[in-house]
Amino acid sequence: MGKPIGIFDSGLGGLTVARAIRGALPAEHLVYLGDTARVPYGTRSAETVVRYAIGCAERLLSHDIKLLVVACNTASGVALEELRSRLDIPVVGVIEPGAQVGVRASRSGRIGVLATPGTVSSGAYERAIHAENPAAQVFAQPAPLFVPLAEEGWVTGEVPRLAADRYLRPLVEADVDTIVLGCTHYPLLHETIHDVAAELLGHEVVVVDSAEATAGALGDLELDLEAGSEGELQILVTDLPGQFAASASRFLGRPLDGLDIRAVDL
Ligand code: DGL
Repeated sequence: MGKPIGIFDSGLGGLTVARAIRGALPAEHLVYLGDTARVPYGTRSAETVVRYAIGCAERLLSHDIKLLVVACNTASGVALEELRSRLDIPVVGVIEPGAQVGVRASRSGRIGVLATPGTVSSGAYERAIHAENPAAQVFAQPAPLFVPLAEEGWVTGEVPRLAADRYLRPLVEADVDTIVLGCTHYPLLHETIHDVAAELLGHEVVVVDSAEATAGALGDLELDLEAGSEGELQILVTDLPGQFAASASRFLGRPLDGLDIRAVDL
């Protein structure tokens, strides 16, 4: 068996990234680490998130991974450089790929970003979007309530629509034509975010999923890729919350039957 790709997130939300990678590169072996004991990262200080991210990366290195994917937007926003300087394998975050797809999708150059407070205050999406198009205007909006809503599976209907309405107002005032989902959990609310935004804007809006964008970007790397049958997926978690199975299968988009899930200590 070839070396696996390591993926980590603050919790289970990054399984949206594992799912997208599985779709793009089905033969790859994946080891996913969800730091369920310390989630959420999105409301913590940058120093704390960097420390947690180093711990997750070190744990995955013990699985002899060939590539590290930082599936957590908050960790990508504050810890990517530190991880790249410490590791001698490629380290890919979710922000640059999402920003690139957002820039390509936008006609007006007015791009909204929905993310956790930590990601918004890191300014990482602004930097990544401006690296692609210095003339773009970026409107970043924290949307912390979307995280527990996605975990609860409360992704359509009145409550998520009300939250979306509140969070999207500043982006509607800015008349964005593209919204980048800058958090692992938000792809579960894609439909609600898209529909509420289009209704409020009165025109179509492109909603970019940074999980899909990241999976697409891996194909461009010079990697020793696996060929043949479906790769294995191993899931490591630092705590087993009661809701684990229900949330994990929602994020992964399939039942957990037959999956290798282990609790680990960092
Ligand atoms: N994984 C985080 C992110 O993508 C969301 C959940 C959290 O706050 O830890 O930013």
